[in-house]
Amino acid sequence: MSTFKLGFIGAGFISKFQATAMQYVRDVELAGVYALKGSEELSAFAKSIGVGECAVYPGVKDLCDHVDAVCIFAPNFARIEIMQAVADAVKAGAALKGVIVEKPLGRTVAEAEELVRLAKSTKLPTAYFENQIHMKAIRAALTQLAPQQRSMGPLALARSAEEHAGPHEPWFWDPTRQGGGVLSDMGCHSIAVSWYVLNPVGKPVTFLEPVAVQAETALLKWGVPANRAKLLQKMGVDYAKVPAEDFCTGIVTFKNPESGQLVKAQFTNSWMYDKQGLRLCMDGLGPGYAFEINTLRSSLEVFIGDEAAEAAADAETALEKSTASRGLLAVQYNEADLYGYVDEIKDAVAAFRQGKDALLNFEYGLEITKLCQGGYLAAEQRRTIDLTDAKTQAELKTYTSLIAQGRGAEVLC
Ligand SMILES: NC(=O)c1ccc[n+]([C@@H]2O[C@H](COP(=O)([O-])OP(=O)(O)OC[C@H]3O[C@@H](n4cnc5c(N)ncnc54)[C@H](O)[C@@H]3O)[C@@H](O)[C@H]2O)c1
Repeated sequence: MSTFKLGFIGAGFISKFQATAMQYVRDVELAGVYALKGSEELSAFAKSIGVGECAVYPGVKDLCDHVDAVCIFAPNFARIEIMQAVADAVKAGAALKGVIVEKPLGRTVAEAEELVRLAKSTKLPTAYFENQIHMKAIRAALTQLAPQQRSMGPLALARSAEEHAGPHEPWFWDPTRQGGGVLSDMGCHSIAVSWYVLNPVGKPVTFLEPVAVQAETALLKWGVPANRAKLLQKMGVDYAKVPAEDFCTGIVTFKNPESGQLVKAQFTNSWMYDKQGLRLCMDGLGPGYAFEINTLRSSLEVFIGDEAAEAAADAETALEKSTASRGLLAVQYNEADLYGYVDEIKDAVAAFRQGKDALLNFEYGLEITKLCQGGYLAAEQRRTIDLTDAKTQAELKTYTSLIAQGRGAEVLC
């Protein structure tokens, strides 16, 4: 089989993670990168781990001219301008076979709709990267419980949480650039993965119809004056003036269009999880059966005492967003696989080779954006949002949350 050439737009945190994941995908090569910063480092890293020569290109068009598919791994605020440049490159003759974009598809429903429109104008197959749906643990749970689903009925409640101590770059913390706080950044993962597991076995990813959303957003840690000062000093973002939520929770209710059964997805996300590092928790409850996943449980623990701790070079060697480099540490030795990055690349490349959308396409990403933004609306208005109401859907089309407008102080306690 010929090697499929991927090109990355962006060379930061997720690009390095995805390059790492590519070590476990056959017949795929990181052929090039274009980014405002970090291209040379990513290229050297790609060569060092053997995933490709990763040529550095000076712009989106040059990259598109030399690869089979491009991956938009740049910050949320640059999505539209980059997708527009990809569309222009395709119109100018770039022979791409697909385009990939990281979560969230847009900072607002309007932006996500624009991404869908631009992609449609290119006629390219699309992939929306939501890694958690591709986690091997999620897939194994569903495979294991398929007979129970068939005999007893589908899952009725899914709970999903993604939490860590806070993002690594200033733009994530700035709600006007990122699109909000932790609900926009990580709520999208938790809502998507719960929707996925709640769908009865064998049904498409949007089979269950979202009917309602309720949510709360709060600023629990990073609004406290001492923490606010630390954030300002470290990230240059002032939560006294432009705060974002560091905690969110809520419930999305879905309806089975065949049976009428209502099922619920509860999400909880925070940037104030001061434990070992990133934790993903998912559980699902069905009639007479259940599953539970906690990514902080590893078969490997290491212990580093105080005396030996000076030698610890990088806490994140143990775990993404690790906050400690001593004591008893949970170590995940293949996070790229654990979190689903390997399988999402395999899925997208296999689909693009056949001229098809990946399992999750841009239209799917738009649905997730609607649910997240419905969450902001629910939290702002302190009411359950009826997603079946045409007026609410129309309101969401032009909605920008107060938090994303930089007016978070009006809604966050
Ligand atoms: N699936 C996940 O778990 C996950 C994890 C982290 C980030 N992400 C998503 O990936 C995207 C990137 O996040 P990150 O953490 O890598 O960010 P980052 O800040 O670490 O890196 C961003 C990269 O994009 C480049 N860039 C910025 N503006 C650009 C532009 N206009 N044109 C070209 N390059 C540009 C920067 O120079 C940098 O190389 C975000 O949308 C984020 O939500 C997803």
